[in-house]
Amino acid sequence: MKTSLTGIKPTATPHLGNYLGAIRPALKLAERFHTFYFIADYHALTTVRDPADMQRYVYDVAATWIAAGLDPDKTVLFRQSAVPEVFELAWVLGCLINTGQLERGHAYKDFLAKNEGHKPNAGVTYYPVLMAADILLYDTDVVPIGKDQKQHLELTRDVAERVNHVFGGGDPILVVPEAIIGDAPLVPGLDGEKMSKSRGNAIPLFAPAKKLRKTIMRIETGSEPLEAPKDPESSTVWQLCRQLTPAVADEMADKLRAGGYGWGHAKQDFFEALDHELGPMRETYQELRADEEQLDLFLASGAERARNRARNTMMRVREATGIRRPLSDLRRTVEIKK
Ligand code: ADP
Ligand code: TRP
Repeated sequence: MKTSLTGIKPTATPHLGNYLGAIRPALKLAERFHTFYFIADYHALTTVRDPADMQRYVYDVAATWIAAGLDPDKTVLFRQSAVPEVFELAWVLGCLINTGQLERGHAYKDFLAKNEGHKPNAGVTYYPVLMAADILLYDTDVVPIGKDQKQHLELTRDVAERVNHVFGGGDPILVVPEAIIGDAPLVPGLDGEKMSKSRGNAIPLFAPAKKLRKTIMRIETGSEPLEAPKDPESSTVWQLCRQLTPAVADEMADKLRAGGYGWGHAKQDFFEALDHELGPMRETYQELRADEEQLDLFLASGAERARNRARNTMMRVREATGIRRPLSDLRRTVEIKK
């Protein structure tokens, strides 16, 4: 069975855009792949400065993924920081990546554009190297990611091929992964722009039903009267509904086009469909979130399994680079000395 891996940065409590755009599709892949999903806490450290926030978000993310259907017995769920081999591999990869490649990175260039006259911290610059190590450490075949991560995957493939070429002598040392980039449109937020934690337009995933309904009633709509026929495609509430459940969205589209069905009705129908999907998850989430010890146990068991794979990969890399001689060689040396 092939391996699918993805990393989730613990920089906020997940919202509906994360769920529809990343979590739900990644969990679908778990049916066909051996899945490794990890919480990229050291990547988050490039921006998160409050240790209490870091801790909280790690647990929020872990509980969200399990509540959304991740089976911790089947999927390997762990914290990036629990597998220190990732830093060792990152160094090896860094020695094969030209700094010019890093200066062309999106995040690096974004930082310069937004902070004139300043340079980013080295973590921001080095971000793509650690991400390549995250992926290559676990012999990953496929990586489900958003479009914004495409460049990182290209760099990962590039450096894996370079390691194989420079150190492999014809034998592949690292698996060259493929990206899986969904073609679903971005999930819009309350204002119709991309749903994002920083825009303040997000729909929280596990808010109590009453609060969820209140938030949904804030989705911006046109001001046509109730009787008027309406265009579903251009409305945020219909676009959200289509991403959630196409069947409900088809019905909603017919009703909107026919007239006599207001935006308030559409929002109520969307709320009911959403609450139907999220309601049971919300309960599981609350239970899990209240038990950090249990979450730690899930994460520790995932880390153990992830580390086994990581050690194997690092053994191959160390042998190939000459950093450590194979164990068989060491044994031979000991025997000769005796
Ligand atoms: P945010 O944009 O709120 O900061 P992140 O950048 O942390 O969210 O995104 C985490 C994951 O969720 C990524 O895989 C990203 O592609 C996905 N994602 C975030 N927002 C959306 C959205 N509005 N629509 C679809 N996917 C999204
Ligand atoms: N950079 C990714 C993001 O910002 C998170 C991430 C870190 C990741 N390591 C990864 C994603 C490895 C996929 C594979 O969303």
